[in-house]
Amino acid sequence: MKKRILITRRLPEAAEARARRDYEVVQNADDHQMSSEEILAEAPNVDAILVTITDKMRKDVIDKLPDNIKAISTFSVGFDHIDLEAAKARGISVGFAPHGVTIATAEIAMLLILGSARRAGEGEAMIRNRQWPGWAPLQLVGQRLDGKKLGIYGFGKIAQALAQRARGFDMEIHYFDIVRQPPEKEQGAIFHDSLDSLLAVSQFFSINAPLTPETRGFFNKDVIEKLPQGAVVVNSARGDLINDEDTIAALKSGRLSYAGLDVFVGEPKINEGYYDLPNTFLLPHLGSAAIEARNQMGFEALDNLDATFAGKEMPFKLA
Ligand code: DGY
Repeated sequence: MKKRILITRRLPEAAEARARRDYEVVQNADDHQMSSEEILAEAPNVDAILVTITDKMRKDVIDKLPDNIKAISTFSVGFDHIDLEAAKARGISVGFAPHGVTIATAEIAMLLILGSARRAGEGEAMIRNRQWPGWAPLQLVGQRLDGKKLGIYGFGKIAQALAQRARGFDMEIHYFDIVRQPPEKEQGAIFHDSLDSLLAVSQFFSINAPLTPETRGFFNKDVIEKLPQGAVVVNSARGDLINDEDTIAALKSGRLSYAGLDVFVGEPKINEGYYDLPNTFLLPHLGSAAIEARNQMGFEALDNLDATFAGKEMPFKLA
């Protein structure tokens, strides 16, 4: 008999088709953001839950899950929305989807860098608002990327893929992470043994670290002060890594020349201060929004459930 799984959001057709082939699927047909109460109401009817980053699997939710729930698998590389300790304590396996997002998210980080350097959002708005007066030598003048120093905070797979792309634009790559990567992964990127040292050289600063209690809100006034005057910051990781008030103040004063942001604290209700700031290039959390990525994320999330029900260890296990 097929196991039953709850899939909390609509997924790409290929992933849904595979899920329906192998499981009895309880689906969120209209793709609304399910509340914790709704998830808990469905939980007694299923053996596992495939969640996404919009499902906050906090301790209070996990503690209320019935014993029939064997596994939670998330359609994401990030897992800050799941309390792993609580799941462990309940004996619920948790898995994630670590590989599918890599190239797609690196592309969006590169787009944030380009969009910020070349003021792409301002240009598009000018046309869409029917305000383009015609070409002018001083219109929306940005800066080139070649020869500029790109400092990357966190040097995991997405950051390495970003570095590879940025090298194609002749940027000089610097990074800081708690562990130094081997030369084949650095590919010439210059390692810094402290965040301060990285900040000091970062004309462009890309945030690629996971959200943890240590990194939450790290990008604040003190950190901004250590960047070169007029640096550009881009964030394709998690909004909560940034202190919005400090970042907005620095963008207003010119201490930061530009910010390219794909992720936000409290998204989709982002800090009001961003809406009217011209020196921002803003995207609605599109990092993994490429069909190749989203298919693979679905397959990786399903691989975890398949392994669980085959009595094996999840291939992408978190807890
Ligand atoms: C992730 O995978 O964590 C992204 O934020 C959504 O794809």
